Amino acid sequence: MNKSGETILSVENLFVSYGHVEALKGVSLEVKRGEIVVLVGSNGAGKTSIMETILGVNQTRKGRIIFEGREITNLSSDKIVRSGIFLVPEGRGVFSSMSVLDNLLLGAHHNLKNAKEKTAYVYELFPVLGQRRNQIAGTLSGGERQMLSIARALMSNPKMIMVDEPSIGLAPKIVNDIFKILQNLNKEGYAILLSEQNVYKALKLADRGYVLETGSVVLDGTSEGLLHNTDIRKAYLGA
Ligand SMILES: Nc1ncnc2c1ncn2[C@@H]1O[C@H](COP(=O)(O)OP(=O)(O)OP(=O)(O)O)[C@@H](O)[C@H]1O
Ligand SMILES: [Mg+2]
Repeated sequence: MNKSGETILSVENLFVSYGHVEALKGVSLEVKRGEIVVLVGSNGAGKTSIMETILGVNQTRKGRIIFEGREITNLSSDKIVRSGIFLVPEGRGVFSSMSVLDNLLLGAHHNLKNAKEKTAYVYELFPVLGQRRNQIAGTLSGGERQMLSIARALMSNPKMIMVDEPSIGLAPKIVNDIFKILQNLNKEGYAILLSEQNVYKALKLADRGYVLETGSVVLDGTSEGLLHNTDIRKAYLGA
């Protein structure tokens, strides 16, 4: 794994509101090349808002987002995806009535040129998706849908993948499989920004973490440090 210390994503003092609701109140964070970084926080803390704002789905009224040295703040999602970021959304965002292959091709729609090579690549990583390429996605199991959603992200040639709460609704064994997949992708060189309520497993997987409360970062550090932090243990690890 190449954790070179070079920053790939830098979020500086981000403010986001939905009408009168202030969802993010000055969030700053960074992801280095080759890192897995986890966002920890209870419901409504702002995890999804951070990811959607990085992707350009939400507009920020203050703050900056820099990806690979270029400012991408408030650009269109289309441009941001082309720059090398993709989101595996909360709830997976799989189109149930479409085939596995068509779902994958949606991830490549910005650049269909190498779609064949890219599908071959994801079928190699996820053999089950290759076997089910013509199956309607709605008939997949929860774990397979999560794999499809991750595989679709890879179809866009990303450098960084944001994965929003991948473990929700999955059995513990399947969660372990998904986390193993994320670990393998990271070894392949993808930087990963993850959000998780499964805090223990997520910190075991990640290099560093940020703890969010009502739209602000209240704590950050190495996963090792956070796992041993008394407040974290009380609030999230039941100890
Ligand atoms: N579309 C929206 N309209 C209005 N308020 C919103 C909208 N989306 C999010 N919010 C509010 O913004 C805040 C942050 O929500 P966000 O979804 O980012 O949190 P989260 O950490 O992802 O939560 P969860 O763990 O439930 O997914 C919350 O107060 C939420 O109610
Ligand atoms: Mg969320």
